[in-house]
Amino acid sequence: MNIIFAMLKVLSFLASYVIVLKKWNIMNKLLLIASTITILSLSYFVQAKGDAEAGNEKSGTCSACHGTKGISLTNLYPNLAGQHASYLEKQLLDYKTSVRINPIMLSFARSLSTQDIADLAAYYSRQEAALYSVGPGIVDAGQKLYMGGDKSRGITACSACHGPRGAGLALATFPKISGQYPAYIKTQLESFRSAARNNAPNNMMSDVSAKLTDKDISLLSKYISALH
Ligand code: HEC
Ligand code: HEC
Repeated sequence: MNIIFAMLKVLSFLASYVIVLKKWNIMNKLLLIASTITILSLSYFVQAKGDAEAGNEKSGTCSACHGTKGISLTNLYPNLAGQHASYLEKQLLDYKTSVRINPIMLSFARSLSTQDIADLAAYYSRQEAALYSVGPGIVDAGQKLYMGGDKSRGITACSACHGPRGAGLALATFPKISGQYPAYIKTQLESFRSAARNNAPNNMMSDVSAKLTDKDISLLSKYISALH
């Protein structure tokens, strides 16, 4: 029963991609489909079932930085509230195995079991995301780059993977990026660009961030933060 349900989810997800794919050339299409199927099948078999209640009880140490409900106390720490459980799980595993390198998070993720990770992810994913706002100048310029990319510079539209409202896509572990601190988004885009962070499947974020200027990053991080 579970398998049939998962297959149906996969099919409906692939159908929703047709619109995005129309804009891409055939090689990119094949690559994206192949990588998506790999990610989907991997994540389906790896996932433990998360218990949000248990996650709440296990989140004591995390709340010192990420807040009791996943809204962090300062912009040094990312908000976790409302993020997809599948993405949160992947990040915690990536920290634990140093696929995503960060000494602070390594020290906390190191001792978490697969079940702890699933429970914590379930808890934070169910909390209400933050809402931020920016001025109209940022919205107009940000929207152009976010929604349309820049063909002349070979920049893919961010919305192709993160969605028009920045909500991401749980099944493919594309993170929700709205409702996040601009300072954190900026550091992540810079880390992807310098390859200090290179844990995205098939280097999806390295390719696109490599072409972003400092000005693009500054603009996008403010725009995305307030997207909803
Ligand atoms: C001392 C502060 C601190 C504590 C405590 C802490 N974190 Fe973090 N967390 C951070 C920082 C800083 C980052 C960003 C690191 C980076 O740039 O990769 C982060 C990143 C994360 C991310 C990635 C978010 C994203 O959007 O990619 C997750 C998930 C996370 N933490 C979960 C947890 C959990 C679960 C705990 C408790 C077991 C925890 N953290 C404890 C500081 C902390
Ligand atoms: C081909 C798909 C794809 C495109 C296009 C794309 N992203 Fe991403 N992005 C991802 C994936 C996948 C991840 C998660 C990587 C991982 O597993 O850590 C990610 C992660 C991120 C993160 C880190 C989120 C966090 O919580 O740490 C930010 C910020 C981001 N993307 C912004 C952008 C922006 C801005 C653009 C457009 C310039 C963009 N992305 C284009 C797939 C994409």
